[in-house]
Amino acid sequence: MSTRGAWSSKLGFILAGAGSAIGLGAIWRFPYYTGDNGGAIFVFVFLIFCFFIGYPVMIAELTLGRFTQKNPVGMFNRLSGGKKLWKGIGGLCVVNGFTIFSWYSVIAGFIIGYLYKTASGAFNTQLTNEAVDSIFSTFTSNAVNVVGLHFLIVFCTGFVVYRGVKGGIEMLSKWLMPVLFFLLVVLAIRSVTLEGAGEGLRFYMYPDFSKVSGIMVLKAMGQALFSLSLGMGTMITYGSYLSKKENVPASAAWITFFEILVCILAGFVILPAVAAMGQSYAQGPDLIFKVLPSIFAAIPGGYFFGVGFFILVVIAALTSTVSILEVPVAYFVDERKWSRRKSVLFVASIAWLIGTPAALAFGASDFLTNLPGIEWSFFDIMSTVFGEASLSVGAFFIAIFTAYIWGIRKAITDIESEGNKFPIGKIWGFLLKYIAPFTIIIVFIYTVWSIFAG
Ligand code: TRP
Repeated sequence: MSTRGAWSSKLGFILAGAGSAIGLGAIWRFPYYTGDNGGAIFVFVFLIFCFFIGYPVMIAELTLGRFTQKNPVGMFNRLSGGKKLWKGIGGLCVVNGFTIFSWYSVIAGFIIGYLYKTASGAFNTQLTNEAVDSIFSTFTSNAVNVVGLHFLIVFCTGFVVYRGVKGGIEMLSKWLMPVLFFLLVVLAIRSVTLEGAGEGLRFYMYPDFSKVSGIMVLKAMGQALFSLSLGMGTMITYGSYLSKKENVPASAAWITFFEILVCILAGFVILPAVAAMGQSYAQGPDLIFKVLPSIFAAIPGGYFFGVGFFILVVIAALTSTVSILEVPVAYFVDERKWSRRKSVLFVASIAWLIGTPAALAFGASDFLTNLPGIEWSFFDIMSTVFGEASLSVGAFFIAIFTAYIWGIRKAITDIESEGNKFPIGKIWGFLLKYIAPFTIIIVFIYTVWSIFAG
């Protein structure tokens, strides 16, 4: 244990888990997915996925990790008795760690850029929509900016991961998450009281059932897995630093609860303001960068709120990137017996290389921004393939593995060791055996089919 590190306390673990979950997924992606996919109905489907798939899979991941005290590859290897297929699924988790880390850090770099802009007073006065758009596109078409900031995030994450699980991750989460939460509440209050916000509130709160579509359901599922950090072994790896004394279902419930809360709040910050400013909801990944500046300009002391907010979002993003990078690093340390230093250097360098074209896909390179033949940017491809599709695959196999290979009974025995109670153990087993894997596979196949069927 001593070389692998461990969480120092129950609260420390919940905060680290919540730190992993809470990040750009909630603050940047959730509002723009909601905007792109029809508003309240998307939120509704997202919540269903969080409760019926996300929460059970989170319990499964934490338990698998805690039981074996291993990274995903080591865990699958051991519990499957060395089966190739399962080791391959562990390998998919590790690959996902590289790829998600690489594109996620691009957006985290944008946040630093916006922190700098806010601090230098760029958003002190109310700007027109055109001005806000042009600030964003000037910023992202500058290759040195975007690549440099991406590097900065990769470097800082590498540094925290190098220092080890306990010293680095827990500390960051402990003090800053509550402050972030407070700022979100203040900004949400300002946003919903802006003139013209009502239409945005309606969009966000009254489900329009005519907007139900296969793609929307897939996006909601991807978002639920992504924002709860599931499907690529983050929670397996974090579980491996967890002691037997802890109550896994209770900790997972807290993490899920905090994450959902932050998602919902972020929606209340962004969507009413979109309506108030007469912008369009469906702006894709650019959305928060075009909306937040106007909220800061409209709030008394907006300068300080703006600076504070971006600082906290950078930190929230870092506690997430750390949990992503930790997966491949734990693999090289445990399975390949590399030093922590070498592992971090290796993974971070590759992720920086893969992330560079993603960073250039917001205007700096025309080719990467509009890939010929498809209407997608290189970034969109990375974030959809590795931030959604591969997570569904991962979560599917993790559910199947827990339910049918390792076995619900063994999992429950482990969860209930040292006197912990798991009153909903039966329901959990049912969800994991029947609901989670089959829902994932149906949604997944339906979408692939609908893409190819046009
Ligand atoms: N959940 C984080 C966020 O919402 C991102 C993240 C961290 C993640 N670890 C993960 C996403 C593992 C998928 C898998 O910002």
